[in-house]
Amino acid sequence: MHIVEYLERKRIEVDRFLDLVMPPSVTPPTTLHESMRYSLLAGGKRIRPILAIAAAEAIAATTPGLMPVACSLEFIHTYSLIHDDLPSMDNDDFRRGKPTSHKAYGEAMAILAGDALLTMAFDIISRPDLMKGCDPVRQVRLVQELAYGSGNMGMVGGQVFDIKAENKDIDLSTLQNIHKHKTGMLIRAAVRMGAIAAGANDRQLDDMTGYAEDIGLAFQIADDVLNVTGTREELGKNPNTDAERGKKTYPTFHGVEGAKKMADDCVTRAINRLSSFDSLADSLREIARYITSRKN
Ligand code: IPE
Ligand code: IPE
Ligand code: MG
Ligand code: MG
Repeated sequence: MHIVEYLERKRIEVDRFLDLVMPPSVTPPTTLHESMRYSLLAGGKRIRPILAIAAAEAIAATTPGLMPVACSLEFIHTYSLIHDDLPSMDNDDFRRGKPTSHKAYGEAMAILAGDALLTMAFDIISRPDLMKGCDPVRQVRLVQELAYGSGNMGMVGGQVFDIKAENKDIDLSTLQNIHKHKTGMLIRAAVRMGAIAAGANDRQLDDMTGYAEDIGLAFQIADDVLNVTGTREELGKNPNTDAERGKKTYPTFHGVEGAKKMADDCVTRAINRLSSFDSLADSLREIARYITSRKN
């Protein structure tokens, strides 16, 4: 199957599940649920859940609880975007083709919608009904992976490095560390969680982790490039915001073409990490290539 078709099919499945588990807007507190749905169901690429699914498919034919595991990552990711856009953070007013959460609902509700999405991520991977058939020891590992990847040693830590680097003359290794954490660690968690849920052995998990770290960096370099080259229509968010906020990015150091080449090198390394996997890992290989060719 062509990767575009694969991504589209999986995106639809993910969207369906997100809609199903997310309470309707009429459930009290209604403004909270309305604002959570507003951001969650606004049409992201769903690349993190899809990575979890593709990693699991590379290892096992069926994986109990795979959909909640995959979608927990999208809850975390959406919360991180809502908070990332707040006036005290990146101060952005457009996301996923719509006004940001705080523009639509006010800052207090945006903070709370983010908090509730974060919490709900852990609810859905803990619920016995959704996770039926998943080995309990494995389930605890999944919860820990999600916490580690998204917290102080992972994504949130990276957001802190990022904020602290604004308007500073940072070097390339500092920038790489920001990217590895703010974006890389949740992508790493996505791939590892899919693999763990499917019962990966230690060797498989190591290889998958190496793959994930390389595509995680490629993904954020591509985001930096698109911030320079993309349009608001293509991206669903405003371009040129990094320069406006005094953020140094890969294009600042290497120019757009140099940054693209570095992202391509990461993708090649990522694919090489999967050499011990058979054709069941082809979706992962194709997703790696898609990461640098995407337009949004
Ligand atoms: C944007 O993530 C923020 C980054 C971590 C680079 P995505 O590019 O995955 O955004 P959506 O989910 O498709 O909106
Ligand atoms: C977002 O990074 C990383 C998160 C953890 C949310 P950016 O701030 O560079 O992403 P965009 O450009 O706003 O999507
Ligand atoms: Mg940011
Ligand atoms: Mg931002």
